Amino acid sequence: RTVYVNGDYVPENEATISVFDRGFLFADAVYEVTSVLDGKLIDFPGHMARLSRSLGELDMAAPVSDDELLDIHRRLLSENDLVEGMIYLQVTRGAADRDFLFPEADTRPNLVLFTQEKSLIDSPLAERGQKVRSVDDLRWRRSDIKTTQLLYASWAKSRAHAGGADDVWLVRDGHVTEGSSNNAYIVTADGTIVTRHLSPEILSGITRQAVLQCARELQIKVEERPFTLDEVRGAREAFSTSASSFVSPVIEMDGMAIGDGEPGPVARRLREIYIEKSR
Ligand code: PDD
Repeated sequence: RTVYVNGDYVPENEATISVFDRGFLFADAVYEVTSVLDGKLIDFPGHMARLSRSLGELDMAAPVSDDELLDIHRRLLSENDLVEGMIYLQVTRGAADRDFLFPEADTRPNLVLFTQEKSLIDSPLAERGQKVRSVDDLRWRRSDIKTTQLLYASWAKSRAHAGGADDVWLVRDGHVTEGSSNNAYIVTADGTIVTRHLSPEILSGITRQAVLQCARELQIKVEERPFTLDEVRGAREAFSTSASSFVSPVIEMDGMAIGDGEPGPVARRLREIYIEKSR
C-alpha cells in the first residue's frame, strides 16, 4: 500500500512520523474517514467542512488547502486502485518537546492519509443486524470535534465484543448519545425516526445528515432529541449510521430483542436508498 505523509507518497513500511508527534503523545490530532464506492469519494465536501471545523475548534492550522486535499485523496485512491473501502486522513499539531502547553504556532502540522479496502455494500453485519450493549458515555464532552482520542470508544467496544455484542451505545443521564463510532437511531411504534440532536455531546455525522435527508424525502417523520434506554427497548426498530457502515440495523440491546429482533424495514430501506444516491 502507498500512504501519504507530508507531501510524499511512499510504501507504508517506509513512512515515518516523529516519536515526538503530539498526535502520538497527546492524541492532539483530528481525523476524517471518507468512504469510497466504485472508486469515488462519498460526501467529500461534507467531510472536509467538518475537518476545517475540528481544526478551528482546536486552534490548529490546516496543513494544505482544500483543493490540495482533494488532489491528495484522488491520487492516493488511484495509486492504490481502491474501488471500495475508506480513506483515512489525520492531522496532528506536529512534533514538539513534550509539554502540556501547545507548542509555538509555527510548529508544522503532520498530515497522513492511507486507504483501507473494505466491503461496504456486502456487509454480513448489516444483513444480520447488530447487537449492542449500553455503557456509560465516559468520553470528554466535546465529541463534536473529531479527535483521535478514541481509547474509551475502543476499550468499551472491545469489552462488549468479548461479551458477545457487536458495538456499544453510549449513555449519558439515561439517554443515548451515539455509538462507539456511529450515530444512533430508533424508530418508534408510530414510525417516527428519533436521533439525538446535534450538540457538543455527539459527532455531527456526515452520513447522519444524508440519511435524515433521505428519510424526509420518504416523508418519514424525524425527531432530533435525546431518547432513553426504555425507548430503545420499546422501539419498533433501531439502527446506526457512519461512513464505514452506511446504515446498519441494530436488533438487540443488552440481550433483549428490539422489535421482532430482525433488521427493520425502515433501516433496510434507508440503507438501500443511501447506497443508491451515493453511487
Ligand atoms: N466514525 N459518531 C462517532 C463517535 C464517530 O466516530 C463517527 C464516525 C460517527 C459517524 O460520522 P460519519 O457519518 O461522518 O462517518 C458518529 C468513523 C467512521 C471512524 O471513526 O472510523
